[in-house]
Amino acid sequence: MNTLRLLQFLSILVPPTIAVTIADIQGNAWKSPLVGQTVQSLTGLVTAKSSSGFYLLGDPVDDVRVSRGLTVFTRTASILNQVHVGDTVSLTGLVSEFRSSSDPDDLTATELQSPSNIVVISSNNTVTPLILGVERPPPTQGLSSLDIGQDGWLSVPSNQSRVDSVNLPLQPNIYGMDFWSSLESQLVTIRNPIAINFENSFGEFWVRGDWPNTGENGRGGLSLTFADDGVPTSNPEVIIVGSPLDGTKNPHVCVGKAFADITGVVVYQFGFYYILPTTAPTIVATPDPTVPATSLTSIQDDCVITIGDYNVENLTPTSSSLKTVATHIANFLLTPDLMFLQEIQDNSGATDDGIVSANVTLATLSTSVASLSNVTYNFVDLAPQNDQDGGQPGGNIRPAYLYRSTKLSIVTGSTPGGPLDATQPVIGSDGKVTFTFNPGRIDPTNVAWDSSRKPLVVAWDTPSGQRLFTINVHLVSKLGSSSTQGNSRPPVNAGIDQRTNQVETVANFVRSILALDPEANIILAGDFNEYVQTRSVFKSLDGLLVEVDENSGVDPVERYTYVFDQNSEQLDHIFVSSAIAKRGTKVEHVHVNNWSPTLSARTSDHDPSVAQLSIC
Ligand SMILES: *[C@@H]1O[C@H](CO)[C@@H](O)[C@H](O)[C@H]1NC(C)=O
Ligand SMILES: *[C@@H]1O[C@H](CO)[C@@H](O)[C@H](O)[C@H]1NC(C)=O
Ligand SMILES: *[C@@H]1O[C@H](CO)[C@@H](O)[C@H](O)[C@H]1NC(C)=O
Ligand SMILES: *[C@@H]1O[C@H](CO)[C@@H](O)[C@H](O)[C@H]1NC(C)=O
Repeated sequence: MNTLRLLQFLSILVPPTIAVTIADIQGNAWKSPLVGQTVQSLTGLVTAKSSSGFYLLGDPVDDVRVSRGLTVFTRTASILNQVHVGDTVSLTGLVSEFRSSSDPDDLTATELQSPSNIVVISSNNTVTPLILGVERPPPTQGLSSLDIGQDGWLSVPSNQSRVDSVNLPLQPNIYGMDFWSSLESQLVTIRNPIAINFENSFGEFWVRGDWPNTGENGRGGLSLTFADDGVPTSNPEVIIVGSPLDGTKNPHVCVGKAFADITGVVVYQFGFYYILPTTAPTIVATPDPTVPATSLTSIQDDCVITIGDYNVENLTPTSSSLKTVATHIANFLLTPDLMFLQEIQDNSGATDDGIVSANVTLATLSTSVASLSNVTYNFVDLAPQNDQDGGQPGGNIRPAYLYRSTKLSIVTGSTPGGPLDATQPVIGSDGKVTFTFNPGRIDPTNVAWDSSRKPLVVAWDTPSGQRLFTINVHLVSKLGSSSTQGNSRPPVNAGIDQRTNQVETVANFVRSILALDPEANIILAGDFNEYVQTRSVFKSLDGLLVEVDENSGVDPVERYTYVFDQNSEQLDHIFVSSAIAKRGTKVEHVHVNNWSPTLSARTSDHDPSVAQLSIC
């Protein structure tokens, strides 16, 4: 082999090294144009260090799409000991796109791996973080240009394209994911950060900063809302505070907790954009833990009904949370005339023993409420078939009602349905609409309800003879959805097809009541596991029922019963027929859980709601 052939052979084994800048490595799109290449004589200022590497800042770049930062990955102690924050260094390394998990929905992060030939050129240089909101304000509406459809990031069909396959040039002034990507590996400061959720199991938490935010609610969180152009916002202006680079531990947080300025490095990991703070953030203010009780009280007027709606998260007769749930109903919801409950488990809780009756669970709750108030609730539910309705295995969760018998009674002479009986509206012997099975279930054998809770419907009478129809729902969950900042665009909203079909069967049922009595008093309430901003799911209710928040004119930012990731959101809804809506409605969400001072102090993941409705 002659020398030329030898060199050609070696160049296959050892790729050529090239001299480039950090900007060349980052490029203006998602993935590095130099991935797989070994670069040499790369220079940068060390802005931060951790036990798994350090972060470099390159020369200023005119193009806002191009990050000046670069992560250098190494756990080699001799290299980590060689570099210090404030050093300007030159080095050789391999440009890589690194995925922090095996989930292909996670994006990759650009990294320099296997650093070598490190030369410290100068030391003690000033390190100045970029001030977010001042130098660069984050966009506040969309996450990605790939979220096409009338509902933005909530559009169907989802998962139509992938960020890393399309690899478009970034649009950081318009889209949140592009914005954070354009700052990848840069040292930034968030002024006056406010936590917008509790911490997750890794002690990480979402914050908003001192810049224009959309959807800001009175507690300090960011609610899902529609933007001025009618498209739902995704609250892309926020970021997760990850584990501090110096090994210190983040404090426990809650919605609305305020911190001193946080400085850290922007990275992508585990499906989201993070700021890794140089050290643990300092709390400067904690919100008042007092939760006011509802102002909507039960009154001695047959025509005015107060209802409560509460997902009590896997309640059993022996739940440690039962006493607190009773306290919420008695002292915060002020014992509404009718409670719509979800996630009532059977008498043996999650033990998978064939027991499906929940009469002990409901009687124990009723007794506990009575001990705190002067209200002894009756209760009604309909036991499911064993293990057929989803939820915690063996728990047989179901919707149920507590009701004040002084205000409401089940229409006399009714036949209660079994788990497979489909109830239907009919004209009863008194000439009024009633149900063939009462209490009953809507179309329980329809595939839309497979492995999911079937809606519990009841026809009620007041002592003065007013009839009321209620539908208590707990739709299939979002478990298995993809990250809002992941590869799949629009993000995968798990269960959405089934939820859409479930709402359609409920809408058909409502339509069949209204066909018999257009002035019927109908209340549909419960845990829909969906926000109204996902309009496709609720489409079949358009023109049939009105959402009480909308009808009551509740400030859109205060419409939330749940906090997940970056969003305060409304999964629990109350809809009413036009007969009720036109008489005027009131509703309040009582934040006994999402205003908790700590995650562990929460009783349920949902907040309850109370509404006052007129049925005469
Ligand atoms: C950098 O500053 C530190 C502290 O001020 C000093 O001890 C050190 O000698 C300086 N290093 C160099 C290379 O100037
Ligand atoms: C999204 O689509 C990709 C194909 O592009 C597929 O491999 C993946 O399983 C889909 N994700 C989900 C959660 O459906
Ligand atoms: C529950 O139902 C069973 C069977 O009908 C009955 O024997 C029991 O007394 C009930 N318990 C309560 C607390 O209502
Ligand atoms: C229950 O009623 C009694 C007698 O009317 C009254 O003294 C008491 O304050 C009431 N308790 C509650 C919790 O409403």
